[in-house]
Amino acid sequence: TGMFTYDPGFLSTASCQSSITYIDGDKGELLYRGYPIEQLATKCDYLDTCYLLLNGELPGAGQRDDFHKLVLKHTMVNEQMQFFLRGFRRDAHPMAVLTGLVGALSAFYHDSTDINNPEHRHIAAIRLISKMPTLVAMAYKYGKGEPYMYPKNDLSYSGNFLRMMFGTPCEEYQVNPVIERAMDRIFILHADHEQNASTSTVRLCGSSGTNPFAAIAAGVACLWGPAHGGANEAALNMLEHLQANGGIAKVGEFMEQVKDKNSGVRLMGFGHRVYKNYDPRAKLMQETTNEVLQALGLENDPLFALAKKLEQIALEDDYFVQRKLYPNVDFYSGIVQRAIGIPVNLFTGIFALARTVGWIAQLNEMISDPEYKIGRPRQLFVGSPRRDVPELAQR
Ligand code: CMC
Repeated sequence: TGMFTYDPGFLSTASCQSSITYIDGDKGELLYRGYPIEQLATKCDYLDTCYLLLNGELPGAGQRDDFHKLVLKHTMVNEQMQFFLRGFRRDAHPMAVLTGLVGALSAFYHDSTDINNPEHRHIAAIRLISKMPTLVAMAYKYGKGEPYMYPKNDLSYSGNFLRMMFGTPCEEYQVNPVIERAMDRIFILHADHEQNASTSTVRLCGSSGTNPFAAIAAGVACLWGPAHGGANEAALNMLEHLQANGGIAKVGEFMEQVKDKNSGVRLMGFGHRVYKNYDPRAKLMQETTNEVLQALGLENDPLFALAKKLEQIALEDDYFVQRKLYPNVDFYSGIVQRAIGIPVNLFTGIFALARTVGWIAQLNEMISDPEYKIGRPRQLFVGSPRRDVPELAQR
């Protein structure tokens, strides 16, 4: 009609003003509240990063202590959640379960349901950050048929998560500090990424004033897809498939398939809407992968060798160079998570856990913006013009 800008996939539409995360896609730079991701990943832990994303500044020593205590205080979920969980098939995809569990939280906390009340938003944020590890671990244990491990609040955020995942009531669980640090870093690297599909979903969903837990459940649902958070699962499946079908010797053949548009095969973990350079998270993830494999005596992991070979070929190949396709965060995250013992179908759940803080920070920013309105895109209508319903015999 000429009244609206038609922009499929929002390639050139800014949906909001934000002061949380900055990406320079050409340089391959990522800043949370101005701080480079490389510095946050080495000098801070995940909860510091959460505090930063939510409040705009890093916590001072006292604030840090209080925030850690506050988050760890809320790690348990209502006992009723276990009955809800039992309604799922044991072989359900963990993302299906997680979407349900996060949505179900909206039924439990009547003191944090009003998105327009800053106190409600604050306590909902704390609860979500606290409870996501519990929910992800519950979904995992349920699929395995093992008892759910209650949180243990004298551990770190990541240590507690690892224990809920891999501990059993039969014996003490020893947290491996290298794995604990790696888990924490995986969380930091996934904590926010400005207006990606799931974050935009959370904003749009929240713009109607809905319950904050329900808005986050919408983000979880969106993240599930293979073009978004599901890419880590797809990337690892791709590597395993390639390894089972000839490994490094067949890499050339596989790359020909990737470059053939009719094959439908993409190099998963490569390419990004915003990064037209190396994704800085992929670099840090590769480093962490190295550390974890070494600590576990898995330096010769064939999938890591395969991934590095694919990367090397891609970075020199015209197809990838011309299109500015580089590894993204998901290219290595699967290898490190697999080494930690996380099953492939839970990778996206880990991403959801880590991204929850970004979703809430963005939701809160939107609600606090005096210009905020319900999100309501328009359309270019291309269907039939007005017509009359014919009698049944004439159809
Ligand atoms: N393998 C092969 N070709 C690719 C790939 C790839 N991974 N990614 C993009 N291309 C090609 C694509 O075919 C197109 O070529 P042409 O211009 O000749 O038609 C060109 O590069 C541009 O791609 P696009 O699909 O138009 O770009 P987009 O911005 O719409 O999509 C993307 C970005 C991330 C969905 C896409 O690169 C992709 O599908 N990558 C694989 C999945 C993946 O790793 N996703 C994780 C993204 S990062 C984490 C997250 O956001 O959750």
